[in-house]
Amino acid sequence: MAEVELDLLITHANIATMQGPAGPRRGHEMQDIGLLEDAVVGVQAGHIAYVGSAREAAAAGVTARETVDAGGRLLTPGLVDPHTHLVHAGSREHELAKKLAGVPYLQILAEGGGILSTVRSTRAASEDELLAQAKRSALRMLLCGTTTVEAKSGYGLDRDTELRQLRVAKRLGSELPMDVVSTFLGPHAIPPEYKADPDAFIDLMITLLPEVKSEQLAEFADIFCETGVFTVEQSRRFLQAANHHGLGLKIHADEIEPLGGAELAAELHAVSADHLLQASKDGLRALADAGTVTVLLPGTSWNLRTSEHADARFLIDEVAAPVALATDYNPGSCPTESLQLIMALAANQLRMTPEEILTAATRNAAYAVGRGDVVGSIEVGKQADFCLFEATNPAYLVYHFGINHIHSVWKRGQLVVQRGQLVEPLAAEAYR
Ligand code: NIG
Ligand code: FE
Repeated sequence: MAEVELDLLITHANIATMQGPAGPRRGHEMQDIGLLEDAVVGVQAGHIAYVGSAREAAAAGVTARETVDAGGRLLTPGLVDPHTHLVHAGSREHELAKKLAGVPYLQILAEGGGILSTVRSTRAASEDELLAQAKRSALRMLLCGTTTVEAKSGYGLDRDTELRQLRVAKRLGSELPMDVVSTFLGPHAIPPEYKADPDAFIDLMITLLPEVKSEQLAEFADIFCETGVFTVEQSRRFLQAANHHGLGLKIHADEIEPLGGAELAAELHAVSADHLLQASKDGLRALADAGTVTVLLPGTSWNLRTSEHADARFLIDEVAAPVALATDYNPGSCPTESLQLIMALAANQLRMTPEEILTAATRNAAYAVGRGDVVGSIEVGKQADFCLFEATNPAYLVYHFGINHIHSVWKRGQLVVQRGQLVEPLAAEAYR
């Protein structure tokens, strides 16, 4: 180590390394953030080459071409947002008054609004228009510390638009300093033209799977398993077909009514089961036994003003499930790009501790998108994705809520946010 001059050293940092044996953390393990005080991280060729205390680093003679003094601030892995509907056109503030008047989410959808309203705007948008809108959102995420993001399709509900959304997600990942994990969510709602025959729509979505797979347009498949949308039987059929074509499985499960989506996710060994507000205790236990990551979305329950929230304490304390957190960023149920806001809501509404929250938004979120071996912790060999916060400890991040605590962000060792601002040319892209 002594002879090698690294590219970058970040010194005097309180590092939440999240290091440990492979796999997501469960139960009380989620409390362990592997904190190293007054520590140093070294980067070489975009990857982590050294992590240790200041004393160890000095003794080992670690040097680098560039050194950044973190001034005692908290350094964490880059945040991972494992559930978003990043690629879409338009917005839905025109539905706010209805929502505030108490019209339920599924009723707005049944009346042809909600998801279907965004489907109309997305079908009408070109690939470049979709890319421009998604880019602005992705850069907002990066500014708030998200360096890996999952992005779902699901606002096309037809062949061309679904594939267009997936191509946009792929371009995002190649044009921005972010990892974009793409998910095919063709069965997100029943389009008007298939209202009388949702099974035929599932058939159509299944016919897209070979193309999605062979063109490497998605790593995962997902479905909205919900009353009035897709049944458990339809979900099983679609997800089994997706599995057969080599896609990992995700599911929007038991969000609004208890339908048995959690049990289905466990049965199919889904990589993640998301939402879970209404899931049965047996369903949650089955998910823990199956090793499925439970992705909780407290921004959605807060924004939809549901009185219930996912039972994070049961998941962590009783069944030791791996819990992750995500924004669910979408134009309807949760229009925010800020995972930091979600982290604050997880404290207040899900009663998660700051350490559990940090684990859920880094290491466990990485496993929820199949990237646990490359991102989500600060360990030698992993990608050099870091957030430096204007804070010294994780409790401060969730206690002082509603603002962006980011000081700096690095993606694969490259500085992308500096003193709370996107660096050029990213800033120019975000604020054209
Ligand atoms: O995860 N629940 C279904 N899908 C999204 C919302 C999509 C929308 O309203 O546009 C969700 O909450
Ligand atoms: Fe969602």
